[in-house]
Amino acid sequence: MSWDPVEVFRMAERIPWIRDLHLYEEVGSTNDIARDLGEMGAPEGVVVLADAQRAGRGRAGRSWWTPPGVALAVSILVRPRRPPGDWPQLMMIAGLAAVESIEAVGCPAGLKWPNDIMIPPDRNRATPASAWRKAGGILVESVPPAFAVIGIGVNVNTSLEAAPPELAEILGSIRETVGHAIPRLMVLEGLLRAFARLYTEWSEGASMLERWAARLIMLGQPVRLHAAGRIWEGLAESVSAEGGLWLRLPDGRREYFLAGDVSLRWS
Ligand code: BTN
Repeated sequence: MSWDPVEVFRMAERIPWIRDLHLYEEVGSTNDIARDLGEMGAPEGVVVLADAQRAGRGRAGRSWWTPPGVALAVSILVRPRRPPGDWPQLMMIAGLAAVESIEAVGCPAGLKWPNDIMIPPDRNRATPASAWRKAGGILVESVPPAFAVIGIGVNVNTSLEAAPPELAEILGSIRETVGHAIPRLMVLEGLLRAFARLYTEWSEGASMLERWAARLIMLGQPVRLHAAGRIWEGLAESVSAEGGLWLRLPDGRREYFLAGDVSLRWS
């Protein structure tokens, strides 16, 4: 079922930080619409929500699958007062908000560096982090110093049987983990409420680093990292305020990465 506009706009009114909400049945990418609004001078706190995306985008030029009626595809426009050097923390705010909103509907959740929202395959069975699945992702697109668009996708009731084969193996959905459908509006409201709260704290000078690091499911674990055309193996040791990852290599040296793909399944 698509979004009920009455419910969605009522929800937006309950969150004073939201200045305006644009709701669509289907778009190319909500990030593109939010970016156009940003270019046209729209204020901070504008939210773009779509039931489905035809050309949803992920990090590193990848596509993001948003079938109708089951997922969240939302983009938030912000105009940070903090210097652009601090903007990598926007991704941390979005990740923390996503985790909080997913946990609030009874599904364990965590984050995988740099931008993946992760959940276990079954909420009733303890599963190692290596078996957790990607339930969503975050795509921050910055136009410093003017504005940034924070795009968040979450597979709420997505049926993975319908997923493209290359995704079926890695994706998860809240519904599959908890065993029943969840009202999308509940997750959306939790997400936007938590985002508004954390963003306000950050705007007033707070750091998101420690909270973000505490939710990363791969810290302290051996990982394989694909970055800059190479594969690295080592211990995911720590993260920085800029959102970078420190990897401890087997020979004891440390390498620092600002982007890459981490996998926990190689051993
Ligand atoms: C990733 O996993 O690489 C990031 C996925 C981000 C998907 C969201 S859905 C809403 C917004 N619109 C997009 O086109 N992408 C983001």
